[in-house]
Amino acid sequence: MKKRALIYMLCLLGTLCTLSAKDKKSTPLYKDAKAPIERRIDDLLSRMTLEEKVMQLNQYTLGQNNNVNNIGEEVKNIPAEIGSLIYFDVDPELRNGMQKKAMEESRLGIPIVFGYDVIHGFRTVYPISLGQACSWNPGLVEQACAVAAQEARMSGVDWTFSPMIDVAHDPRWGRVAEGYGEDPYTNGVFAAASVHGYQGDDLSAKDRVAACLKHYVGYSASEAGRDYVYTEISQQTLWDTYLPPYEVGVKAGAATLMSSFNDISGVPGSANHYTMTEVLKNRWGHDGFVVSDWGAVKQLENQGLASTKKEAARYSFNAGLDMDMMSHAYDSHMKELVEEGKITMAQIDESVRRVLRLKFRLGLFEQPYTPVTNEKERFLRPQSMEVAVRLAEESMVLLKNENQLLPVARQKRIAVIGPMAKNGADLLGSWCGHGQDKDAETLYDGLLAEFGKKAGMRYAEGCKVEGDDRSGFAEALAAAQWSDIVVVCLGEKKEWSGENASRSTIALPQIQEELVTELKKAGKPIVLVLVSGRPLELNRLESQCDAILEIWQPGVNGARSMAGILSGRINPSGKLAITFPYSTGQIPIYYNRRKSGRRGNQGIYQDITSEPLYPFGHGLSYTEFKYGTVTPSATRVKRGEKLSVEVNVTNTGTRDGAETVHWFIADPYCSITRPMKELKYFEKQQFKAGETKTFHFDVDLERDFGFVNKNGERFLEAGEYEIIVKDQKVKIELVE
Ligand code: NOJ
Repeated sequence: MKKRALIYMLCLLGTLCTLSAKDKKSTPLYKDAKAPIERRIDDLLSRMTLEEKVMQLNQYTLGQNNNVNNIGEEVKNIPAEIGSLIYFDVDPELRNGMQKKAMEESRLGIPIVFGYDVIHGFRTVYPISLGQACSWNPGLVEQACAVAAQEARMSGVDWTFSPMIDVAHDPRWGRVAEGYGEDPYTNGVFAAASVHGYQGDDLSAKDRVAACLKHYVGYSASEAGRDYVYTEISQQTLWDTYLPPYEVGVKAGAATLMSSFNDISGVPGSANHYTMTEVLKNRWGHDGFVVSDWGAVKQLENQGLASTKKEAARYSFNAGLDMDMMSHAYDSHMKELVEEGKITMAQIDESVRRVLRLKFRLGLFEQPYTPVTNEKERFLRPQSMEVAVRLAEESMVLLKNENQLLPVARQKRIAVIGPMAKNGADLLGSWCGHGQDKDAETLYDGLLAEFGKKAGMRYAEGCKVEGDDRSGFAEALAAAQWSDIVVVCLGEKKEWSGENASRSTIALPQIQEELVTELKKAGKPIVLVLVSGRPLELNRLESQCDAILEIWQPGVNGARSMAGILSGRINPSGKLAITFPYSTGQIPIYYNRRKSGRRGNQGIYQDITSEPLYPFGHGLSYTEFKYGTVTPSATRVKRGEKLSVEVNVTNTGTRDGAETVHWFIADPYCSITRPMKELKYFEKQQFKAGETKTFHFDVDLERDFGFVNKNGERFLEAGEYEIIVKDQKVKIELVE
């Protein structure tokens, strides 16, 4: 520890000495912390050679690459002039050593910006984003992102590749776990919350990091749920579904964006001038930069756009992609492309300006080094664990609770069964940063801590997550027979979701379903606890289980939260931010689809229901909420007038609880067809038993009733609109 601190002090001293040794008058403007950032950039740019500029537009890696999908040529001897590094370590010292090289061995002493995938926690791992969305609590998500930012920045990371805000309609796609579900508005709200949580008000603060909205854009529209593949997205759908969360994230101040891997109807996201330059930079005025996804520039060759890496560099850069992550296309070919006149110096300057702007905003020129602290000071702090526990509680969704089986009250003997019961690792989910298995309490231990004194417990694994070994069934059945209630913990391995983790079916492996069928023979009530990174096909399990609790991949503190819900210490309040299909064959299925040309029983499946098993917004509580009449301030409004709507909600049960009200609008007839309903606002409030609260929605007519056309232009048409809350519909007439 002492040695590390000494090295840090020496680095600091080194910088100070270098600065003071020079004649004060000759200190270049870009090193003057008091000068305006844009002037500092002008000054620095004027001193840079083309080679130095090009290096700012490249990102390599430092440390042990911990991601199997990040396949690429590692640069062992990193040049001091490199613009950015992905930092795969938690030790500030490794960063500081490299940064020292940049500060002292490069001609101009430009600091490196260190990035990393801090997705749902750095070391204190909290629920996956899909789970977070089901909390409908953006304030809490903001706090969680602030925890992640603190742990990351104090470990040497300045910039996170998060949030992912790809609206997902296909749960076969493994990355559905990483976003905030199927709705554009919801993704936008959580985009803003996480950007605020990561960045705060001051990027130079020692506990904040720069955010990166990804993957820009349309990556989630992957055909048949396969990763990296072609996406067919009409201009209308681009503007209706995929761009809106990005616009909100940009407005919230997101420092950077990551270009997507996917081919967007013939023009890959990483070579797309329309999305990166026309929309993002010109129309939305984003002044940060766009980094490619890993190797995405080079992938233009695989996608059949560029025949060489050099051509790929030209396509990407001319489209507005500022930084190349690990394709080695910009570092190898950019200089040549400028010399050949294929790229102008003005373009280079513009991209370098964007990169430098972030470095200045992060305060890296003044504070290039990370103070050396020990892990205890940074990680798993009590206040951080508290945020993780609350977010886990609120993200869990009680899908079914037949005959009010839950909370567990009288039952004195609990059988805890299943491959997820004593499995901490899979609770962390994909992209779990520097999370460690040992940090996560197992579901069994969580139950033991919760019920240990009140009830007897028996455990049997029953089966593995997959395979066909049924040898554990007998022991599991015996435990079930002994018990008053069976808690069966099933689910997915963490590797089954995330990048490159597509699945052809969203059902659990057959062995897990068979285990439940076996347990059913005991005739005891069954509570199914599900650990997953996506909605699952539950139709066969649903009929066999009395209660179902979806806990997602809840992170380090999920077990205690799950057990608290089962015991009734916590009243569940999560609601689905994504539809649970009845079966995989229904995919894509999502609530805000457009209307069909035929009604009634035409155009529906002939073999199964066409309804989802659990719709968007579904989630049960241990108390009941009764909605009063939805009341608008007017039923006829003119353009530019104000409109607000209210509804009183009463907790008519005997327990305290929380309710989220979702406000939808519908435009039954419009000059372009519109979705059946669209979420425009939501709010979650806490209730005491018996309490009544008022929920309020201020409608902005342009924003909420209006629509965008295929060029992203907004229109508001006169006519009839509907405001929808639960099963109530209020008609509003908009007159000219
Ligand atoms: C590829 C993933 O698509 C992206 O989300 C991630 O940020 C980069 N790799 C860096 O790890």
